[in-house]
Amino acid sequence: MDLYEAIRASRPCSNFQSRPIPEEKVRAVVAAARLAPSQSNLQPWRFVVVRDEELKHQIAQACPRGKLVSEAPVVIVAFAMEEDIPMTVGGYISSYPLDTAVAVHQLRLAAVAEGLATNWIVDFHEAKIRRALQVPEGIHPIAVIPLGYAGETNGSAAEGRKSPDEIIAYDRYPW
Ligand SMILES: Cc1cc2nc3c(=O)[nH]c(=O)nc-3n(C[C@H](O)[C@H](O)[C@H](O)COP(=O)(O)O)c2cc1C
Repeated sequence: MDLYEAIRASRPCSNFQSRPIPEEKVRAVVAAARLAPSQSNLQPWRFVVVRDEELKHQIAQACPRGKLVSEAPVVIVAFAMEEDIPMTVGGYISSYPLDTAVAVHQLRLAAVAEGLATNWIVDFHEAKIRRALQVPEGIHPIAVIPLGYAGETNGSAAEGRKSPDEIIAYDRYPW
């Protein structure tokens, strides 16, 4: 599978098989996340892999639409660590959550290469996630990522996207 094909296939999955995932595949997708670039190479990401049913239940309870979290055989929670000297994007937003978002997307693309599907959930109650996984201060959950074999054909990420002409301009900002 080439990269463009993987990008198209990386659409969020809303229906997982209960079939378990071999640990090598989980390690492989996290290893791909590890290779992501980050501001000053600080690599502020951490990933907690959850297979335990009770813990998955608690994470599902932290997400208003948590059914998918309970159904997926594995849930990976991606965290971003606050930095001692925080770098900002143009002085208005911290860059460390962006670093983790880049790593999350590399993980999602690697999942496609492993024959797996993912989703990406940010609609969660932070304190409940922190409590369930005993997260210390200064570390923030960025994404809850259900991981598994897709239950049905996942379609293509090209569907429902703006056309190139709607998002590309030259020499000035015309919108
Ligand atoms: C940063 C980010 C956060 C997202 N958060 C959620 C979420 O909390 N819940 C959810 O169901 N989907 C979430 N998604 C998935 C998007 O809703 C989905 O990618 C978008 O609707 C396009 O869907 P499609 O790829 O199936 O066309 C998120 C995606 C991204 C990139």
